[in-house]
Amino acid sequence: MDKLIINGGCPLKGEVRISGSKNATLPILAATLLTDETCVIRNVPRLLDTHTMVKLLKSLGKRVDWDKDRIIVMSNGPVNPVADYKLVSTMRGSICVLGPLLTKLGEAKVSLPGGCVIGVRPVDLHQKGIEALGAKVTTEGGYILARAKKLKGARVYLAGASGPSVLGTANIMMAATLAQGETIIECAACEPEVEELANFLNEMGARIRGHGSPRIVIQGVKRLHGADYRMCFDRIEGGTFVLLAAMARANFVIRDIDYSQLTALDDVLGHIGVRVQAERNLVRVKAPKVLKPFSITTYPYPGFPTDLQAQYTAIMSLTNGVSVIRDTVFPDRFMHIAELSRMGARIRREGGSAIVEGVKALSGAPVTASDLRASAALVMAGLVAKGRTEIRRVYHLDRGYENIDKKLIDLGACISREKE
Ligand code: EPZ
Repeated sequence: MDKLIINGGCPLKGEVRISGSKNATLPILAATLLTDETCVIRNVPRLLDTHTMVKLLKSLGKRVDWDKDRIIVMSNGPVNPVADYKLVSTMRGSICVLGPLLTKLGEAKVSLPGGCVIGVRPVDLHQKGIEALGAKVTTEGGYILARAKKLKGARVYLAGASGPSVLGTANIMMAATLAQGETIIECAACEPEVEELANFLNEMGARIRGHGSPRIVIQGVKRLHGADYRMCFDRIEGGTFVLLAAMARANFVIRDIDYSQLTALDDVLGHIGVRVQAERNLVRVKAPKVLKPFSITTYPYPGFPTDLQAQYTAIMSLTNGVSVIRDTVFPDRFMHIAELSRMGARIRREGGSAIVEGVKALSGAPVTASDLRASAALVMAGLVAKGRTEIRRVYHLDRGYENIDKKLIDLGACISREKE
């Protein structure tokens, strides 16, 4: 396993390019199961998670070529309906092969993804959605088994106690593309990644409208054809670099970012005294010497993203007051608190909230990454802390941030990667 060594305080300048979206790429790769024709997907990030999804597609019978940032998915004989535990258990996003397999083959056997450090991660809404479309669903031996000769369009309300489900919406939208008749998803997830998936499906000949809003309408079609598609930028990587620039008081340029998808972050930055200059596809950040504290609550899109909560907790640890950070989407997503506290942050957890008392400075320390966004928060803290920080288990970071050390070194960070 690798670890990152960071010497804090090196000034960051220059320019960073945001990679393609991980959370749009995963369901779009799953959507290639809906056709026997060739699909070309461009601007795909080289990540552990995208590698896992490629392995999963190959295990299901697809041929997949990957050169630089372009993935080509082709038929290679019959597709098998079983998504194996070994692969699915390493990446929750694999659950989004359920809908495509079921609607294309009439059956699917997908391992339950299990929980992870940010929460239980149930799939009851996925199951509710495919049952509404007429599937017979059972769970046995840690697998979801779903069968349906032909799915039938239906109206389905797809939100649970914590609001809409991103991958639940993705799964039902994909299943509905080849169902008979019209499907209406009420209280659908509005995330840009869901919109991106719908755009890709429509390129394949699907008939989807309302994506990006809480009501998505899908007219089933007989078949879908191949498509050639360029992935959008990674909204969360973009937001992470904006928060890093603010925390490090650095005004490097962030390129290939659609800042209009980060309005909740922009609003919060205004409250803490940070100004962001956004033009076309690039952004510059101007931060004051002292940041003001500001309390937030995470919500489904367009609310403040839970995937930026850990990074925001890191920046709030260096203000001149107290802020409360509440996560309503994943109330247990606070593994980063203990590690940031090792660096001198003053944070305590109260249920689904973190109470952060700002300090003047953080100091470097050996810390351990626990999940993707927590590790990003630790990197941000290490880059501004006094002294040396060692971050163990950085494979968590490699799941969702492409070439992160190279991007940071190119900005002037004093960072290196070593074998643990
Ligand atoms: C997606 O996960 C993202 N992952 C997550 O990003 C992100 O945090 C999450 O959406 C919320 O925005 C990918 O897109 C690959 P949900 P997903 O279903 O779809 C509850 C990252 O860091 N729920 O929208 O799995 C659930 O417990 C990752 O890139 C049910 O109750 O999340 C949670 O409280 C982490 N029943 C809430 O809904 C269900 O059947 C939102 O979960 C499904 C979910």
